[in-house]
Amino acid sequence: MAKMWAGRTDGVTSQVADDFNSSIGFDSRMYKQDITGSMAHAAMLGAQGIITADEAATILDGLQTILDDIDSGALAIDMTCEDIHMFVEQVLTERLGDVGKKLHTARSRNDQVALDIRMYLREEIDAITALVRELLGVLVEQAEQNKAVILPGYTHLQRAQPITFGHHLMAYAMMLTRDLSRLADCRKRMNVSPIGSCALAGTTYATDRHFEADKLGFDDVCRNSLDGVSDRDFCAELLGALSILMMHLSRFSEEIILWSSWEFRFVELSDAFTTGSSIMPQKKNPDMAELVRGKTGRVYGDLMALLTTLKGLPLAYNKDMQEDKEGVFDACDTVKMCLEVFVGMVATMKTRPDVMLAAAKGGFINATDLADYLVRKGLPFRDAYKVSGRTVAKCIEDKTTLDALPLATYKEFCSLIEDDVYEAIDLKTCVEKRISEGGTSVASVEAQIAWVKQQLK
Ligand code: ARG
Repeated sequence: MAKMWAGRTDGVTSQVADDFNSSIGFDSRMYKQDITGSMAHAAMLGAQGIITADEAATILDGLQTILDDIDSGALAIDMTCEDIHMFVEQVLTERLGDVGKKLHTARSRNDQVALDIRMYLREEIDAITALVRELLGVLVEQAEQNKAVILPGYTHLQRAQPITFGHHLMAYAMMLTRDLSRLADCRKRMNVSPIGSCALAGTTYATDRHFEADKLGFDDVCRNSLDGVSDRDFCAELLGALSILMMHLSRFSEEIILWSSWEFRFVELSDAFTTGSSIMPQKKNPDMAELVRGKTGRVYGDLMALLTTLKGLPLAYNKDMQEDKEGVFDACDTVKMCLEVFVGMVATMKTRPDVMLAAAKGGFINATDLADYLVRKGLPFRDAYKVSGRTVAKCIEDKTTLDALPLATYKEFCSLIEDDVYEAIDLKTCVEKRISEGGTSVASVEAQIAWVKQQLK
């Protein structure tokens, strides 16, 4: 069949070219946005007297019926069409006759597709935002339950200082609050209407771009028609925000994988979020966390692919830009799946406070507190640091810990050390004394939880 754009050519293309050129396989998911966008366009054409009020009403009615029919399954999308825009217009013309052909007045597929994708992605942002908020809720709940659970905090993956598990979880909550604000920021710049840019240069018809923008819930219109049809910054920006979000989920996944290993045994994942091995009967594998970590690469890939596609494009529209959709759709789908599984995985994750505490007791993670104790006794920090370090070396030699080292031995390293040292280096004290803002004490973590809850209001 000849294409709708037949004219200059006979519009008959080879099958291989058709298959290569067609985007309906992936842009059909924007049918709702395409049709509601067209409804706003028809209403504007009618209001401006570019078509008659009757014609506008007929088109609006026809579009609504097409939308209802696709929704109900009465109308199947014809996958041999070039794209969703052509499909909708074709059905409209089949159903309405000549009046259907008036819809595309003062419009081009170039501004139409730019409109559809902005409308589609802002809904995706809302869905992703809701999931991030859900995950934050679950994290805060776990943090509350584990605010007094002591475990070693790490730097260089070496035991460093005692912290609470609630504190550790709240670090991820902070990352997610930034993800929320990045998504909101991206949505703001995305929510600007390109429709009315037409093919590239605007139009000679007396259109009202603000009328359409208002009807479709946009905050503003794109201010330059060349930019309006060729801007895909909002896709790149969203992919950037999603990449950072995935990076956070991936780091969290990595820790969950470590914590659920026999080497750590800090947490136990629910059976519902783990898998077994086909050969090793004892296995309980953290596949969900591993997949999230793995899928991070694919979202980064989507970002890189789009940036690379866009980098050499002259103004204005080029068909290369059709490549924007699959990547950004894939990233949204992937992120939503990852968040959904993460919510369940974190909500059902059980902690092992006894194992965490046992780990905290090894590794001399109260050595800083011993130094701080000596500072309070009047020693300059650098000297105190040395005394503490030598004491640790002695403990390693004697195969003991700072808590168990006799006072007489302490005295050999520094005469300032008294019996109150044991209370000062007790892990509970170490944690409870860290009341600085953002610190690990229960009070500080409670303040962090309250702040995040406030952000979620
Ligand atoms: N399927 C196209 C895309 O996704 C729609 C725009 C086509 N415009 C054109 N001038 N061929 O970019």
